[in-house]
Amino acid sequence: MPKRVDLFDSTYGHFTQGMLETIRSETFGQDIGQNSWTTVDEYDRFLSWLDLRPEHHVLEVASGSGGPALYLANHAGCKVTGIDASEAGVATATQSAVDSNQADRVTFTVANANSPLPFDDDSFDAILCIDSMNHFPDRLKVFQEWRRILRPGRCAVFTDPVVISGPVTNDELALRSSIGLFLFVPPGLNEQFIEAAGLHLVRQEDVTANAAMVSGRWHEARKRHKDALLKIEGEERFEGLQQFFAAVYRLTAERRLSRIVYLVEKARR
Ligand SMILES: C[S@@+](CC[C@H](N)C(=O)[O-])C[C@H]1O[C@@H](n2cnc3c(N)ncnc32)[C@H](O)[C@@H]1O
Repeated sequence: MPKRVDLFDSTYGHFTQGMLETIRSETFGQDIGQNSWTTVDEYDRFLSWLDLRPEHHVLEVASGSGGPALYLANHAGCKVTGIDASEAGVATATQSAVDSNQADRVTFTVANANSPLPFDDDSFDAILCIDSMNHFPDRLKVFQEWRRILRPGRCAVFTDPVVISGPVTNDELALRSSIGLFLFVPPGLNEQFIEAAGLHLVRQEDVTANAAMVSGRWHEARKRHKDALLKIEGEERFEGLQQFFAAVYRLTAERRLSRIVYLVEKARR
């Protein structure tokens, strides 16, 4: 069984190192500080579903390095709050907000998305959560909490990158989840919980191809920069992460794990 390997904390701790920026550019094309399977064209498409205006306040759940939240604030001219469980992620994100002169409208806080969120009812015009839902095991409670804090008539977009859509061995599941706590779900379960939480599913799309493309490129870019990565990751973590990226590539390219994006709405009163 593969050992746990840290992807988030140590990556966020070194996020602005030039070599990691080069790897992100080689992986994503345009580097906005994402640490997921999304590319800018895809992220832009998801943002276009949210009908954002400058007076809006958006919550990014699991905001990682803060890069995508800062990009979104620039793009829509709105206020953004990001939450993430990683202290290193929130520290990097907060510094980036200061460095880009956006600290007045973009803020980041450490919070566990599995717990009640520290926000009032009806306080956000949109919620965005990219490639992180798989870390939230009590899915129904998470949707109920999102419904509580969303304003009536407003929407949330999230991707679930690990919907089981084919045969997967126990070793493959272990490798895919070697970076932390994971919940794998069958097709239809998110849809069921969305409705049970009182939200309405507006749209869903299969976006597995992006994960296959990004994970394949990420694995290859890391291989090219192995010597430099070894200095910050060490041999064991480097190899563990390479096996993780190879597993993501194989499982998504073969469509045995699917990545689905969902747009959900809270009813108008
Ligand atoms: C794949 S990364 C995605 C980050 C960001 N959304 C992006 O696109 O770059 C998953 C993120 O989920 C965060 N995370 C994991 N468990 C969490 C939890 N229980 N509450 C909040 N954030 C969590 C991790 O720290 C990590 O930043």
